[in-house]
Amino acid sequence: MWSELRELRDGIDLGTPPRDGVNVSLTIDGVPVTVPSGSSVMLAAAVAGKAVPKLCATDTLEAFGSCRVCLVEVEGRRGYPASCTTLVEDGMVVRTDSEKLSALRRGVLELYLSDFPAEDVEGGWSEFHETLRQCGVSSHPYGEGETHLHSPVDVSNPYFLFDPAKCIVCSRCVRACEEIQGTFALTVDGRGFESRIVAGQDQPFFESECVSCGACVQACPSQALIEKSLFEGGYRHG
Ligand code: SF4
Ligand code: FES
Repeated sequence: MWSELRELRDGIDLGTPPRDGVNVSLTIDGVPVTVPSGSSVMLAAAVAGKAVPKLCATDTLEAFGSCRVCLVEVEGRRGYPASCTTLVEDGMVVRTDSEKLSALRRGVLELYLSDFPAEDVEGGWSEFHETLRQCGVSSHPYGEGETHLHSPVDVSNPYFLFDPAKCIVCSRCVRACEEIQGTFALTVDGRGFESRIVAGQDQPFFESECVSCGACVQACPSQALIEKSLFEGGYRHG
């Protein structure tokens, strides 16, 4: 099972890291699927060909469950659990798609979009954009309010830049720094709308403990952290 999952993983992001437990069988949108115990519902859905929209989850990092985009329905359970942090159980019956789920996901994504550079939405390419497309969201109903759109871009690192305007505070970079690189250069500072990614003691990236390994850039789903080499003519939105 592990090797099969590894093969599948070459093509798609399973959402959470593969596990190596005993077989557990469940159905996802009516499709029977068997995965190792300890796997997430999100992973089982990906294996069943029913990939659930996601933002803060990726199969190179442990699940965190912060964005609330990956909600599903589980027969016999109340509410809408996050599929990335819900583990599979034998006989589980999961639904990944319903009007209610679409409305919930849309609501979450519209909030993210209201604080993302408008000129970078259409035609954009990133996991964030893929998730927007998957959920049919391309605009938001909110007027101009408080945003992070004018936060200064940190260009201190020679290899990559950090544009806070595009940051959705999924903390994938923070977790990649810790889990993949074993460095603790990044933290989430503040709470709620005020939360933001901070390098070191609120320093420019290059002056922090960052060792420029690039794990955070690889992990970022919204291109807030992005290689400078992609912008030889200078970085700008749009
Ligand atoms: S910089 Fe990227 S990876 Fe880090 S929190 Fe923001 S969006 Fe997520
Ligand atoms: S992908 Fe599951 S909560 Fe973000």
